[in-house]
Amino acid sequence: MNRNPHVAVVGATGAVGVEMVRTLEKRKFPVATLTLLASARSAGKTLKFRGHDLPVKELTQDSFQGIDIALFSAGGNISKQYAPIAAATGCVVVDNSSAFRQDDSVPLVIPEINAEDVRGHNGIIANPNCTTAITLMALYPLHQAFCVKRIFASSYQAVSGTGAKAIEELKRQVGEIVAGRPATKEVYPHQIAFNVLPHVDSFLPGGYTKEEMKMENEGRKIMHHPNFRASVTCVRVPVYRSHSVAVSAEFEKPVDVAAAREVLKKAPGLDVVDEPEKTRYPMPLFTSGKYHCEVGRLRKDCAMDNGLAFWVSGDQLLKGAALNAVQIAEELLQLTR
Ligand code: A2P
Repeated sequence: MNRNPHVAVVGATGAVGVEMVRTLEKRKFPVATLTLLASARSAGKTLKFRGHDLPVKELTQDSFQGIDIALFSAGGNISKQYAPIAAATGCVVVDNSSAFRQDDSVPLVIPEINAEDVRGHNGIIANPNCTTAITLMALYPLHQAFCVKRIFASSYQAVSGTGAKAIEELKRQVGEIVAGRPATKEVYPHQIAFNVLPHVDSFLPGGYTKEEMKMENEGRKIMHHPNFRASVTCVRVPVYRSHSVAVSAEFEKPVDVAAAREVLKKAPGLDVVDEPEKTRYPMPLFTSGKYHCEVGRLRKDCAMDNGLAFWVSGDQLLKGAALNAVQIAEELLQLTR
């Protein structure tokens, strides 16, 4: 790998893609050249990078010549079609979609947890699901201390997780309703403004959604914990940005709240915000735009043995997507040093 790699962002005009470009700049990733790729609709647009206007180009099979690292966030179908082409031209793909996450030959990585897995890549590395990533930032350090058996969780997921169009939908619906007009729907099956939807991603035969099962499936792979179990209800809420998750976790070992707090205070990429008497707890308004996730509302879970209840919130466009992808790219650079 080039010490100053040529980098491409696929889906550069999307909610996550824009953050990938910003994160590369903010973290001073040593980019030699940056290629911005999106659909033909965006060709001719520009995005700012290090003070320059860079053109957005149409993604084609030839886009990856001379590229060392490609960060993909243009949806699963584009990843399935183009990531193998990119990898075959010798570039390493960091893919934000779910297309390859369960593929045994593809590492699924949260650098604070399993950075070592990057070494086993065959040209594609998967970036985890956003809700799973934010939950594991708090759960994994607790697992190391107390050995997690299972969790019960509910998520409160921001509309930007669905993409730029969903942000517009929430804005538009708020305006329509405040003006006394009926809300128009394009992205979600129901009105999202002033409502919550217990429906994220598509339903599976057992009744859970795909999004809900990612917690167990991806959690097992990332934590190297094949027996981990997770029962999750994923909920879309009318919040622009940052996902939050209410978690009840059961552990093998007895859990002491004070000891859990100490573990979480030392955890990388995580801030403990837990002073309920001062109304201080993690909230999406305050984790938006922030690299670290926040955990709070720590308490002994009263409904299970060895249980801990907590609330974690994090910017799903950053730790749940763009930041984690850039951190994986940073790990790739480390391998070549
Ligand atoms: P475009 O803006 O040209 O449609 P979001 O998740 O916010 O909806 O963003 C999706 C991203 O994926 C956008 O950058 C979008 O580009 C890109 N994308 C969607 N379809 C294609 C396609 N067929 N080829 C390349 N990029 C695509």
